[in-house]
Amino acid sequence: MDAPAASTITSSSHALPYLSIANPHATARIYPHGGHVAQWRPAGHGEVLWLSARSLYQPGKPIRGGIPLCFPWFGPHPQRSELPAHGFARIRPWTVAQASDLPDGRSRVRLSLAADSETLAAWPHDFSAELTISVGATLEVELAVTNRGQLPAPCEMALHTYFSIGDIRHTTVEGLGGCTFIDKLDHGTRKVQDGNIAFTGEIDRVYLGSEATAVIRDPVLGRRISIAKRGSRSTVVWNPWIAKAVKMADFGDHEWPGMLCVETANAADDRLSLAPGATQRMAAVISVSSGA
Ligand code: BG6
Repeated sequence: MDAPAASTITSSSHALPYLSIANPHATARIYPHGGHVAQWRPAGHGEVLWLSARSLYQPGKPIRGGIPLCFPWFGPHPQRSELPAHGFARIRPWTVAQASDLPDGRSRVRLSLAADSETLAAWPHDFSAELTISVGATLEVELAVTNRGQLPAPCEMALHTYFSIGDIRHTTVEGLGGCTFIDKLDHGTRKVQDGNIAFTGEIDRVYLGSEATAVIRDPVLGRRISIAKRGSRSTVVWNPWIAKAVKMADFGDHEWPGMLCVETANAADDRLSLAPGATQRMAAVISVSSGA
């Protein structure tokens, strides 16, 4: 792999190699497996992304935490239950196309993925995808997917971001008030968000037409995480709470209070139909500030 001066390739502690980034603004860890940003720590703050202590690091399995990429479908495949949940992007090996230091001290890593016989068997469209990760005081992750085939390509996509928080029961999310959401825990019933989100139990919602910046207010860690977006109309909010956490083998039984997913997506009603030759770019720009 080609790497910038500020990064190193490591493959010691886990079965999967990763790229370690360290620059004056932040540190980060990126796995080519799944095109997965697993850690990001801006100077002066703790880890912003949550990563399960029980995560697997195995070919063919997703990493539990960080930013899994969901593509070309979100959730279970609508017809073929044997296909992997959230699509194949998060479990495929991506190629490191470029890794460089920027003049302002940030680091940029570009990963790519293209259709092959396995992806075509699961999703019959020729495509190429590029993930551009800019690591600095803000973390910017852009997924660009191009339809290289002759037919329109229906798809969903998500940057399934897990955030590290002090305690979900004291956390709120603003920026989604007034949005219609699909409540996946209530037979997909559509509801409208009244004000900020507070958490008192399991939550699994797809907010539709939500293009505004979401802000996680975390009084326990004393910080605010802001998630701005481009090219994304959906926001998924998920925490498994107690019972579902226990059922997941790669998720610690007691880890649920410390994580919250706020996902930058185009899913459900906001799914896309990529015209032949068209590229969809979707990005999350994440920043942190002290004080909640
Ligand atoms: C969320 C979905 O985005 O991801 C949930 O809305 C799902 O329904 C969760 O349970 C985790 O999915 P997975 O496949 O990583 O266990």
